Amino acid sequence: MNNFEENVRKALTSPLNQGEMPDADSVGTVGSPDCGDMLRMWLKFTEKDGKKVIDRATFQSFGCQTAIAVASMATELLKGKTIEQARAMTADELSGDLGTLPPMKIHCGQLVEGALRSALDGGSVDQKASVSTLSDEMKRPEGNVKITFLPTAD
Ligand code: FES
Repeated sequence: MNNFEENVRKALTSPLNQGEMPDADSVGTVGSPDCGDMLRMWLKFTEKDGKKVIDRATFQSFGCQTAIAVASMATELLKGKTIEQARAMTADELSGDLGTLPPMKIHCGQLVEGALRSALDGGSVDQKASVSTLSDEMKRPEGNVKITFLPTAD
């Protein structure tokens, strides 16, 4: 097992920041065209030294283990970041100490990156108001999930 896989395995023993955030300021949801997995990220902002920064981030995922591990890492790394700093982070940077994403897992990291960007772009006010879980939202035909399919790498 290489380092990345081992790090993912360790991260999955106690993923951080999982679950909806009732007092979130923004929510972003994306789906991957590569595998059909989905991920939602909630953001809560605060002000620090006159700048708007991310106070907390949480996530829910119908995704693979890599997406969960990256989201766990990313939601920690995002704390204290300005919107500009967060927007500039690549999937590899969001993976942090997990290591460089293997080619077959790049789209898993991009799922996290996409949910972050969707949330930074304002997400959906309706999602914020309903604070339903991702699974609840997917079951409702009138659900307010805005699915943004990420561009494929090829
Ligand atoms: Fe779908 Fe990883 S295989 S996000």
